[in-house]
Amino acid sequence: MNALSPAVEARRRRTFAIISHPDAGKSTLTEALALHAHVISEAGAVHGKAGRKATVSDWMEMEQARGISVSSTALQFEYLPAGSQGATGDGQPYVINLVDTPGHSDFSEDTYRVLTAVDGALMLIDAAKGLEPQTLKLFRVCKSRNIPIITVVNKWDRPGKSPLELLDEIAAEIDLTPTPIFWPVGIAGDFHGLARLDATGNPSTYIEFTRTAGGSTIAPEEHFSPADAAAHRGEDWTTAVEESTLLAEMGQVHDEELFLAGETSPVIFASAKLNFGVHQILDSIVGLAPHPAGRDDVSGTYHDLEDDFSAVIFKVQAGMDSAHRDRLAFMRVVSGEFERGMVVTHAQTNKPFATKYALTVFGRDRETVETAYPGDVVGLVNALGLAPGDTLYKGKKAQYPPIPAFAPEHFATLRAASLSKYKQFRKAVDELGAEGVVQILTNDLRGESNPVMAAVGVLQFEVVQARMRAEYNVETVVENIPYTVARRTDAASSPELGRQRGVEIFTRQDGELIALISDKWRLNYLQKELPDLTLDTLIAD
Ligand code: G4P
Repeated sequence: MNALSPAVEARRRRTFAIISHPDAGKSTLTEALALHAHVISEAGAVHGKAGRKATVSDWMEMEQARGISVSSTALQFEYLPAGSQGATGDGQPYVINLVDTPGHSDFSEDTYRVLTAVDGALMLIDAAKGLEPQTLKLFRVCKSRNIPIITVVNKWDRPGKSPLELLDEIAAEIDLTPTPIFWPVGIAGDFHGLARLDATGNPSTYIEFTRTAGGSTIAPEEHFSPADAAAHRGEDWTTAVEESTLLAEMGQVHDEELFLAGETSPVIFASAKLNFGVHQILDSIVGLAPHPAGRDDVSGTYHDLEDDFSAVIFKVQAGMDSAHRDRLAFMRVVSGEFERGMVVTHAQTNKPFATKYALTVFGRDRETVETAYPGDVVGLVNALGLAPGDTLYKGKKAQYPPIPAFAPEHFATLRAASLSKYKQFRKAVDELGAEGVVQILTNDLRGESNPVMAAVGVLQFEVVQARMRAEYNVETVVENIPYTVARRTDAASSPELGRQRGVEIFTRQDGELIALISDKWRLNYLQKELPDLTLDTLIAD
C-alpha cells in the first residue's frame, strides 16, 4: 500500500481507548474488535481470562498475581466497513489505533496520560451494573479533555436493566445526553439483534445475529426491513420501535456537532462475548469518531498535520517483558511523518534522540515500525531521559503543553533498607519519578535520602518497591505519613503555610511547590483563616 501525505493518512486514522470498570468486558471487546478486523481468526487468542496471564503483559510478578495489566500498549489494525470506500474514497481501509488503559483504579494517573493520546473513547458499561465508579471517574477525565465518547452497553445477552433505565441512568449521573444509534431487539438476556436508527432516531433496519459455537467467531448477520422485522420478531420489534421513537420524540437523536462537542454520546447495545454488535461498534468508530488533528504548542504555534514531525510522549514503561529488560517510551505522533532511524530533538533538553528502535507493542507482540503518521502510537526503545508529556520533533520546533499531574491521595516515605545501596537508590528514585510511576516530593527537613512518594493508589507504592528490587537490586522501606490532601502552592505562600500545624511543604520533581495537608478539615480551616495563601487544586481533585 502506498503511503499518502500525513494529512490524508491522518484522515484514515481513529485513535481511541476503551474506558470501563474492571470486568465490564474491555478485554473481551478488544478481542472481538480484533476478530472483526481479521487481526485474529478466533476469539481467545489475544485476551481471554484463561490465557491472559501468558499473553497480555507479564512484566511483573505482581501483575500476574493480581491478574491486572499495569502496562499500557496499543493495538493497530485496519478496518473497512462493508460497502465503504474508506476515508480517502479509494477503498483503502481505515487504520484504528486502540490504546490500552490500565484496568486497576490505582493506576488512574497512567490512564489519564493514556487518554491525552486519544481522540475518542468507547465507554463500556455492563448492562446489569450500569455506571460503576471507575467508569464515572474515567468519564470525567474524558469530559475534562473534551474527548468524544461512544457508549457501548455490553453483556446484553445476560439479564440486566431495561434499556430506557440505563439511558436514564447515564443522563442523570453524567453530564452527557445518550443518543442511541443501535437499539436492542429483545430484552437483556434475550438478545436477538439491533435496530439501526436513522438520522431522525427511528428504526430503519433490523440486524439479526446468529450465535456461533462458543461465540468465538464472527456472528453472521441478517438484515430485515422494518415491515419484515415486525413480521419476524413481533412483540420484540414493536417494543424496540416504541422505545426508540419515544427517545427520538424527546430529542435524544445523534447529532454530530453535539457529539464532537462532548455533549451527547451515541449508544450501541452489544455482547462482546457473542460478537453481537461488534461490527456496528467498529462502523461507528470510523464513521463518527474524529480523526487526528493538528494542535497548538506552548508558544501558541499551530502544528498542522502536514508540518514537520512532532510527537508527545504519554507513557514511559520499563521492564515490560522479562526477555527485554528495557525502557520504552510511547509517543503519539501529532504532525508529519515518522520514519524509523530519524534523529529527532527532545524539546525539553534540546538533545538529539535516535529512533533506531521503534516498535508497536501489544501484549507480548512487538513489531518494528518503519513509518508512522498522526494518531499512531510508537514505542521507542532505550528511552532514558524521556518523560510523560515531553515532546519530540524534527525541523520546526514544537513543545506541547505538559500533561498535568493527578491529585495524589496517598503519601509515604521511601528509603533504602541498607545505606550501602544509597547510590542505586537515588538513581532509581530519579528514574522511576521521571517515568511517573509515583510523584516524588522532597524537602530539606527530610533530605534526599527520605523522599516522599505521592500516589493516586497504594498499588503504585508496591510497583516502586518491586521494581527497585528487580531492576536496581535495592530493598526499600515504605512508611505511610499522615497526610491525605495535596495542594499546589507558591514561593510567596509556602513559608507561612509551612508554619501551620498539619502542613508540610515539598518540592515535586517537576519543580512545583506542593503543600501536604493532614485532612480536608484542616484544608478548609486554612482556606478560611488564611484566604490570601495559594492552595490550588490539582487535577481530578
Ligand atoms: P475487563 O477486561 O473489562 O476486566 O473484562 P473481561 O473482558 O475480562 O470480562 C469480564 C467477564 O465478563 C469475563 O467472564 C467475560 O467472559 C465476561 N464478558 C465480557 N463480555 C461479555 C458479554 O458480552 N456477555 C457475557 N455474558 N459475558 C461477558 P469471566 O467469567 O471472568 O471469564 P471467562 O471465563 O468467561 O472468560
